[in-house]
Amino acid sequence: MQRIMVTGGCGFIGSNFVRHLLATDPGLSIVNVDKLTYAGNPENLADIESDERYAFRQGDICDRDFIDGVLGDGPFDAVVHFAAESHVDRSILDSGPFVQTNIVGTQVLLDAARKHEIPRYVQVSTDEVYGSLGTEGAFTEETPLAPNSPYSASKASADMLVRGYHYTFGFPAVITRCSNNYGPFQFPEKLLPLFISNLMGDQPVPVYGKGENVRDWIHVLDHCRGIEAAMRNGKEGEVYNFGGRCELQNIELTKLLLKLLDKPESLIRYVQDRPGHDLRYAIDCSKAERELGWAPQIGFETGLGETIQWYQQHADWVARIKSGEYTRYYDQQYGDRLDRS
Ligand code: NAD
Ligand code: DAU
Repeated sequence: MQRIMVTGGCGFIGSNFVRHLLATDPGLSIVNVDKLTYAGNPENLADIESDERYAFRQGDICDRDFIDGVLGDGPFDAVVHFAAESHVDRSILDSGPFVQTNIVGTQVLLDAARKHEIPRYVQVSTDEVYGSLGTEGAFTEETPLAPNSPYSASKASADMLVRGYHYTFGFPAVITRCSNNYGPFQFPEKLLPLFISNLMGDQPVPVYGKGENVRDWIHVLDHCRGIEAAMRNGKEGEVYNFGGRCELQNIELTKLLLKLLDKPESLIRYVQDRPGHDLRYAIDCSKAERELGWAPQIGFETGLGETIQWYQQHADWVARIKSGEYTRYYDQQYGDRLDRS
């Protein structure tokens, strides 16, 4: 592959993906399309801005003329679609932007990619489309879709559109579904960067419900390597799950963070649960291991230690984000709940 278009490259996973590909494939150039919503931060790619293999086009994936124009400046060997509204709690506050970007935006991209005969399209989806597990088992690619939040419903809808375009038009798409990512450049509304940055400032951390919900953690670079493998070697029409085989209850993870940051348990606040909170996610990623030769490489202990260090070394990055719009969201989401013990 020589030239690819990435959407959402200024977000958490997209920026890690762009940096990873440019660092490992000297023959590749990337056009990054991003609207720069609250979650999109060009600073995430400041170190590669001057790389002549990288180009940034600010715009909305829902804007047909804009997307048509970018893909018309091809040829492109692949489109890798990350751009999304990605935070479950925000989708509970207002699902409108989720329907617009995650569903309509995907449809616009699919139409434009078809028109310009892009030979490979990767839909970056999520394990949340499968719904929630009980205490046993893991999601496979055959698990029926049963999304439980406006966010996951919008992602499942997009997946269904991609499937429909593949079956109807022979559109050359693959879908990837990954579990919870952690690592550098994650917006501090998600559990790990929120808790790490709060604890760095001796602020309390809001644990939803009893903290019994389980997530399966994977380092963002392992996810990026999986998406790359699906882009290069995935079979058209197939779905590939990625996960880190690292299940932890939220409260276990919270206590681990307190220990690693040397903070007291008195900073834990049990707050009102997230409505419709999925109990447990766990991914069976054996298909990706078998068919793509992929496997998670970064152990959780090492990855988490490095991630904490990254946030400590980038306190300015966190501080710049935790102002303005973020403050308004934080007040709306947590209100005075953090003052109560
Ligand atoms: P993020 O919120 O950090 O970044 C999203 C990016 O998309 C931002 O740069 C934003 O500006 C851009 N964007 C949003 N709406 C846009 C629009 N209309 N047009 C153009 N750009 C727009 O998200 P993330 O955590 O990096 O997630 C990336 C993708 O991976 C999403 O599709 C998400 O569903 C999926 N995913 C995330 C995780 C996770 O743990 N974070 C796990 C599995 C899958
Ligand atoms: O599983 C993949 C998904 O992981 C991605 O598709 C989403 O884009 C990504 O946001 C993430 O979704 P989650 O809802 O699992 O992530 P979040 O970091 O919001 O929450 C992780 C767990 O921590 C979840 O059980 C809710 C809980 N939580 C979260 C926050 C923000 C808390 O207890 N307190 C909090 O303040």
